Amino acid sequence: MTKVQSGLSRRRLLELAAGAGAASIALPFARPALAQAGPIKVGVMLPYTGTYAQLGEAITNAMELYVKQKGGTLASRAIQFVKVDDESEPPKAPALASKLVQGEKVDILIGSVHSGVALAMSKIAREENVTTIIPNAGATQLTRSLCAKNIFRTSFTNTQVGLATGRTMAEAGLKKVVTCAWKYAAGDEFVAGFAETFALGGGQIVKSIDVPFPNVEFQSALAEIASIKPDAVYVFFAGGGAAKFVKDYAAANLKANIPLWGSGFLTDGVEQAIVGAGDGVKTVLHYADDIDNPENKAFRAAYLAATKKAADVYAVQGWDTMQLLEVGLQAVGGDVSKRDALNAAMSKATFASPRGPFKLSASNNPIQNFYLREYKNGANALIKTAVTAYADPGTGCRLSS
Ligand code: PHB
Repeated sequence: MTKVQSGLSRRRLLELAAGAGAASIALPFARPALAQAGPIKVGVMLPYTGTYAQLGEAITNAMELYVKQKGGTLASRAIQFVKVDDESEPPKAPALASKLVQGEKVDILIGSVHSGVALAMSKIAREENVTTIIPNAGATQLTRSLCAKNIFRTSFTNTQVGLATGRTMAEAGLKKVVTCAWKYAAGDEFVAGFAETFALGGGQIVKSIDVPFPNVEFQSALAEIASIKPDAVYVFFAGGGAAKFVKDYAAANLKANIPLWGSGFLTDGVEQAIVGAGDGVKTVLHYADDIDNPENKAFRAAYLAATKKAADVYAVQGWDTMQLLEVGLQAVGGDVSKRDALNAAMSKATFASPRGPFKLSASNNPIQNFYLREYKNGANALIKTAVTAYADPGTGCRLSS
């Protein structure tokens, strides 16, 4: 699927073009302004089918809402989204990214949800020096050894989430844990980060169970967990797979005796699908639904009004992707040909996010709070801030200034 969408009416586009044309008559040397008068093309590579489909939709909804609230423009330039469905299938990613960058000649690239897709996509982004924002995928190396001045992330590294969760679960007094995760880059990193801080806090992983991605057949894993009887289970699944795991776990009557914990993706984006089954599941993430700040309240109200759906962490990441882009575009007066200045401004951006304060580390990954949450009655409620202003170490990233 390739959809081309503009957030602007034809009339508004003509008005903008006419305005730029008038400026070029008054100022003979203003040709670059004329060349910059059309829409900024933003290539969007996200999953719209498969187990991560609703994650891609939430990111897209929030990005479109942000631009709509700004009258269809950022830094006085019309924004045109060019969307492709990456299906969370890494082998298809190089061709899709090339189609956007070389075919559509997009000015900005945004994607994706799945780490494998983002790794393949960002290879092309690095080669072509296209300013790229990753609105979810946590593949840790993208802001460590593979970091680049034109690659930004508004989400997290998988390791960062794992580190925050391991620490929080150790602090909760849990000692023996079984981990259960999808077997691909993301699952491996969520578990590796968790293992590091959980061990430091005196905890022990007694068994790690892998499930091939995107399988949702969990019965043998649940039987193994029941026979081991650990203090708790630490899980990474997301989207459709997360909803299925939470429901299967409750149906297997494990919840009362073996507390279910996870990275927050276990209960985020699936709030309506796990009503009842998810009650009491504790998770750690850089967002909670009821974070008490004006940005979160305004964002959630606007998102609900526009989409008739409650906002989730993926929507927040989409929203902040546009906040970050706007900072960069304003710094260059909407002139995307000034790539170095655009990237430099984005790397220094600070703004108020619905998740709390937002700024980037030296490797362009968010430094952010992580929250302990408990799922209840269709929402991920804040219990406490587990770690404040927490950064991925960015090991191996060298971006000379
Ligand atoms: C990833 O593949 O990096 C990934 C996917 C879904 C999530 C989080 C991380 O919810």
